[in-house]
Amino acid sequence: MRVDVVTIFPEFFGPLDVSLLGKARERGLVDLRVHDLREHTGDVHRTVDDAPFGGGPGMVMKPEPWYAAMAKVAGSGDGRPRVVVPTPSGRLLTQSLVEELAAEPWLAIACGRYEGIDRRVIDRWADDEVSLGDYVLAGGEVAALVLIEAVTRLLPGVVGNAESVADDSHTTGLLEGPVYTRPASYDGRDVPAVLLSGDHGAIARWRRDEALRRTAQIRPELLSRVPLSPRDRQLLAELDLAFPLPPPSVAD
Ligand code: 6GU
Repeated sequence: MRVDVVTIFPEFFGPLDVSLLGKARERGLVDLRVHDLREHTGDVHRTVDDAPFGGGPGMVMKPEPWYAAMAKVAGSGDGRPRVVVPTPSGRLLTQSLVEELAAEPWLAIACGRYEGIDRRVIDRWADDEVSLGDYVLAGGEVAALVLIEAVTRLLPGVVGNAESVADDSHTTGLLEGPVYTRPASYDGRDVPAVLLSGDHGAIARWRRDEALRRTAQIRPELLSRVPLSPRDRQLLAELDLAFPLPPPSVAD
């Protein structure tokens, strides 16, 4: 997969050389290219923003450098990139959107400051406006890093163990339950006996129950979007749910 990032802070993207992402880049699994928006300005001050029409606080990113940068990026490969703009006014970035983006051959991420990019840039170039959640960051750069990490770890070969991706929190629609490693007893706290039992059926059932319990406690609204077996429902019925469960689907 190719990913282009346009930003006024290319230094923000140093972390892309590290860890999982750094290895994925080295191995050629992802081709990440960071571009400085200011390279596409025409004045000595390399101006990228201006006061908003209609008044109000802050500054708005000017259209001309963005048009120039996006035209250069979009014209630099085969076909067109899917262009994502991180913004607190976007739709929520969920694992299902991450999966959709991971299936694209080419993404471009346009990082604006939070007062925003001139709307004409979005209308002309953006395919998706995406938010990380209900809080405000100073700009799109951290969101771009989040998006890149979430997407690249789904690319074939990036994460060593494909099963670890399949079991993730949110991939199953549930939060993941607790995990343990050696020693079996530590600080007077014992690893749940079932995990030492070697009974793979019982272990799978325990993990499912713990995921259901944790989800019911912390993110009960997620349960309405997960297919629940009769056994799942039985477990949940034993808990005090803050939300009513949806009726069983045909799949159950
Ligand atoms: Cl994508 N950008 C900014 N600036 N703030 C955010 C965000 C994005 N998602 C949540 N808050």
